[in-house]
Amino acid sequence: MGGSNKPELIKDGKRLDGRSPDQLRPIKIEVGVIKNAVGSAYIEWGNNKIIAGVYGPKEALPKHIQDPEKAIIKCRYSMAPFSSLEEHGRTGPNRRSTEISKVTKEVFENVVQLEKFPGAEIDLYIEVLQGDGGTRAAGITAAAVALAASGIPMTDMPYSVSAGKVGDAVILDLNKIEDNFSDADMPVAISPRTGEMLLLQMDGNLTKQEINTAMQMILKSGAEISRIQKEALKSQYEKILEKYNK
Ligand code: CDP
Repeated sequence: MGGSNKPELIKDGKRLDGRSPDQLRPIKIEVGVIKNAVGSAYIEWGNNKIIAGVYGPKEALPKHIQDPEKAIIKCRYSMAPFSSLEEHGRTGPNRRSTEISKVTKEVFENVVQLEKFPGAEIDLYIEVLQGDGGTRAAGITAAAVALAASGIPMTDMPYSVSAGKVGDAVILDLNKIEDNFSDADMPVAISPRTGEMLLLQMDGNLTKQEINTAMQMILKSGAEISRIQKEALKSQYEKILEKYNK
């Protein structure tokens, strides 16, 4: 946010990477990338590279964290020490990663059918290999696919994306440089089936009108993100079917 030597982020209606204000970065998702996980997904979202892995359900340990009524979700979001120049050489949890782990866990507590697994824990790991702005959104989007691939029942497969503001312009899916110099950033996660909002964070200020514009961009791009999530799952099952039919 803010800062000196602000580059011109929008010129003739185009952003530095050539995108229009409401355009997503390219997104690719691959399912089944970790053998030992019950479900996993790798996402490339612009220059973000992130792996999500799901483990469990298994007995929640230590025992005192167990909920006799339902499963609990443990979530760890983490950035690899080589994932960005800023993070270089640093490992271990910090304030930011603890916050992102918490909000991500809360997203999935709303869609995973936890009551089906009393006393259990479901572990969700999100590892950022390369970060370039919007890693929490990309991580949630990948984790949703990993959970779907795990077969753990969910009421819906959420997606996440952020929108924000540079100068007077509302833009979708901020990359790192846009994030650094933006006037606002609003990551959102949505359950597409119900339209329920599962995450809403805001860094900076947006007017009511700007929030409306941002939400319209988010919902429109959501259809595309959901399509990519489903395609990734479908192509994984087609691969498995092919193997069986051989
Ligand atoms: O990644 P996201 O936009 O969800 O979170 P952020 O806190 O707004 O961070 C924006 C970007 O700054 C990240 O995506 C990373 O590229 C970078 N960053 C970093 O490299 N090292 C950190 N410790 C924090 C952020």
